[in-house]
Amino acid sequence: MLSKIEKLIADTEHFTAKTAEEVEQFRIKLLGKKGDITVLFDDFKSVATEEKRIIGQRLNELKQKAQEKIKALKDVLGDQNQQLHQLDLSLPGESTSLGARHPLSIVRREILEIFTRLGFTVYEGPEVEDDWHVFSALNFPADHPARDMQDTFFIEKNPDIVLRTHTSSVQVRVMNKQKPPIRGVMPGRVFRNEAISARAHCIFHQVEGLYVDENVSFADLKQTLLYFAKEMFGADVEIRLRPSFFPFTEPSAEMDISCTICGGKGCNICKHSGWVEILGCGMVDPNVLENCKIDSNKYTGFAFGMGIERITMLKYRINDLRLFFENDVRFLNQFA
Ligand code: DAH
Repeated sequence: MLSKIEKLIADTEHFTAKTAEEVEQFRIKLLGKKGDITVLFDDFKSVATEEKRIIGQRLNELKQKAQEKIKALKDVLGDQNQQLHQLDLSLPGESTSLGARHPLSIVRREILEIFTRLGFTVYEGPEVEDDWHVFSALNFPADHPARDMQDTFFIEKNPDIVLRTHTSSVQVRVMNKQKPPIRGVMPGRVFRNEAISARAHCIFHQVEGLYVDENVSFADLKQTLLYFAKEMFGADVEIRLRPSFFPFTEPSAEMDISCTICGGKGCNICKHSGWVEILGCGMVDPNVLENCKIDSNKYTGFAFGMGIERITMLKYRINDLRLFFENDVRFLNQFA
């Protein structure tokens, strides 16, 4: 038996092949079901105990050498089994599943499309901003509570640098660079030092709007927002403006739309009022225009700002803000 093994070891060492088919035949001859090595392992069971150690050792060596040789040759010549596999044109193709757009991306794009149809240009600005663009230029007094550590993320080493708390900062950048007429929408991510819950998050998204020209009036603001609401939520939707306050607009208002869930009859979402708030707006405060070197005697403007999450939640009836950031594909796949 030992001499057989030695011969096979020598054969294995000397074996060469030119094709993958030859390698496969060699494999079958040695390691196939009735192959020489397989048979030797069967015979090994009846070897006398005192010979078992030496014969077993050589037999294992033979098997290992054969396997290594076959693998080395297959690496060079290819695996015939695999080649056959690759050539099987009747195999079904591998399918890759298509992803879906994030609901916030869908709604962001829709908002921008509505305003670009009205002649607004899309502008973007930095997320890491200085105090002047986020607060001072927008007429926030030095002691305004929005600068409070509870609302704003400051950069520790330099309290003049903040993560922007709203996209209104991009208004300032656009007005600084451009002369009126200015018509822009400014989407982006904003940051606030808030506890995360179903209704609040420390990161969310806004779209800011700005129109500055001669003779821009509150009526222009109202008509623009009515057009937006109808395009976004359907022709039946109604809007209402309530007086409000923002440092950067005078007068200021908050806009509600008739509840899209109950049609204005009253439900949980609108807290039985029939109305839901969707944005803040107003006429650009003359101080803001002057801060940006725009002549407030000659020009007026309106501005507005809305949360993309809020619009998306109303549009798709989503009741928890955290779902947007969890990346659960079962949620995300629902928005084609
Ligand atoms: N910046 C405001 C916020 O983050 C939203 C806003 C309100 C923007 C009124 C405006 C505006 O441009 O006129 O809550």
